Amino acid sequence: MTQDELKKQVAQAALRYVVEDAVVGVGSGSTVFAFIEYLSTIKNKIEGAVAASEASAERLKKHGIRVFDLNSINQLQVYVDGADEITEHLDMIKGGGGALTREKIVAAVAQTFVCICDASKLVPVLGKFPLPVEVIPMARSYVGREMLKRKAQPVLRENFRTDNGNLILDCHGLTILDPPALEAEIDGIAGVVTNGLFARRGADVCCSGPRMG
Ligand code: A5P
Repeated sequence: MTQDELKKQVAQAALRYVVEDAVVGVGSGSTVFAFIEYLSTIKNKIEGAVAASEASAERLKKHGIRVFDLNSINQLQVYVDGADEITEHLDMIKGGGGALTREKIVAAVAQTFVCICDASKLVPVLGKFPLPVEVIPMARSYVGREMLKRKAQPVLRENFRTDNGNLILDCHGLTILDPPALEAEIDGIAGVVTNGLFARRGADVCCSGPRMG
């Protein structure tokens, strides 16, 4: 099976978690785009979606799925999103597409986080994939120096702005043995908006992983 076919397979598997007559949270990335295709086949059975990126919102609308502002939603039962790396404990690195902050916000609201990723994303230890850190532009150099102190090599993502108008530092060379602790530590650096560790609120199920739903 090609990686594309595997993405489609996990995207389709996530449909079983979608709650009828409710709003579903939708992340971003290529696996999520495959999920949106499947979601459009049941669009009459859902109320609509909340999107974690402008790109996903546009794609949902193109498929005739109503997109809600997160502030107009009282509760969100399910959030479906991909990952760049995931462990057997369902800790993740996300943000390869740069949407980490909005993804983390929607994930925080949701009761159940369904991760959809092909098996190539499963790792014993997080860190081979460069950890994205979203920073306020004026803090770029300071946060870069702080990441160097933490044994990472930060690289500014070129020609890129997040949906929030900020920059991304992709932090290479980390071996992340305690994801929740590092997540909290990096978030504590002045000028950091969010980092791509999703461990304090990891996934609840993984459609291709150890707790395959
Ligand atoms: C987007 O910012 C990311 O968090 C994605 O969820 C992640 O990069 C996975 O993307 P793919 O499904 O394209 O691999």
